[in-house]
Amino acid sequence: MAVYQATTSAPVNIACIKYWGKRDTKLILPTNSSLSVTLDQDHLRSTTTSRADPSFSKDRLWLNGKEEEIKEGGRTATCIKEMKSLRKQVEDANPNEPKLSTYPVHICSRNNFPTAAGLASSAAGFAALVSSLAALYALPASPSQLSLISRQGSGSACRSLFGGFVAWEMGTAADGSDSYAVEVAPQSHWPEIHALICVVSDDKKGTSSTAGMQRTVETSPLLQHRIKHVVPERMKAIKEAILAKDFDTFAKITMQDSNQFHAVALDTDPPIFYMNDVSRAIIALIVEYNRLSVENGGKVKAAYTYDAGPNAVIYTPKENLKEIIPLILKYFPQAEKYNDHLGLFGTASVDGAVPAGFNEAVAKQFPVGAVKGLITTRVGDGPRVLGAEEALIGPDGFPK
Ligand code: DP6
Repeated sequence: MAVYQATTSAPVNIACIKYWGKRDTKLILPTNSSLSVTLDQDHLRSTTTSRADPSFSKDRLWLNGKEEEIKEGGRTATCIKEMKSLRKQVEDANPNEPKLSTYPVHICSRNNFPTAAGLASSAAGFAALVSSLAALYALPASPSQLSLISRQGSGSACRSLFGGFVAWEMGTAADGSDSYAVEVAPQSHWPEIHALICVVSDDKKGTSSTAGMQRTVETSPLLQHRIKHVVPERMKAIKEAILAKDFDTFAKITMQDSNQFHAVALDTDPPIFYMNDVSRAIIALIVEYNRLSVENGGKVKAAYTYDAGPNAVIYTPKENLKEIIPLILKYFPQAEKYNDHLGLFGTASVDGAVPAGFNEAVAKQFPVGAVKGLITTRVGDGPRVLGAEEALIGPDGFPK
């Protein structure tokens, strides 16, 4: 008997213009457009195998080895249902196609990074789920069409259907048909863009994005100003900056938008704090690093951005990592040696150091463990279809 199975991987994305607020919580329609950089799957990815089989009793899902309930009417169920209905259209148009849309599916998904790192795993996860079903069903759908479905899993997941620099256009239609992701520029347009992720220790359980943004929509007057008067201009300006490879403008907008997102979180009642002292110290270091460059006639060299947690993501052209990594190591000593998997430093040992002229008083030195780890990565490509040897489901139809 034929085996109907497909495996794909999908990337993480980190926004420069933040999505924060829904106008429709069921369809996941945002109150503003957003824009992100897709990170390289060689370093961070979700891998998903989907299999359709008439002998399965029902749709089932395993995440990182553990079975998760697929709640009726929930986000995962919605994505599976939408994908089956696209498959049904293919079968209706071509009666010779096997009726996969009527078979239950087993879906098995894994992240190659620990969930405890607090990195947005839902974006990569739902993008991988949707792209694996698209491969299984051999759908003729474009990434933008698929993004309409992954959006209903998690808003930010719509942006992980593309590589490079990606916009989620908010749209205006009540049914969400014009709220999807588009590519602003591919990875190959600006491959110099790298990201240093500082994984910050955090003991407290933060407010989830879903709950936090809803409270912001209900209570923050500043959010209304952001939606109407700030984001539309920034979307336009950052797209132009990306197309022109103008890092100075790209970085300034990215930092301003991170700041404003955390300002609307603070403007929420009761207020929400996602950054902590370590996050703020990293901001101070990047601000001082940029000041040094600009006051010596140079340009802005790095941009920080923070999502709904304390981790910092620092975007910078590759060449500056040789200064930024030692700078971070100086203030945030690590238990383990820096893993130079990109070969930035050659054979030299990587120690903490500040550039000449840097005002060391802008932050204090933190103890080992304040930053638990550093992940160096770069702009990457969109979802990949993988070979059978990477499948997460075994011949018996269950996780390997
Ligand atoms: C701060 O996409 O996780 O990372 O749509 O409710 O699943 P839901 O929220 P989610 O929110 C992401 C918020 C953010 C900003 C961004 O990625 O644009």
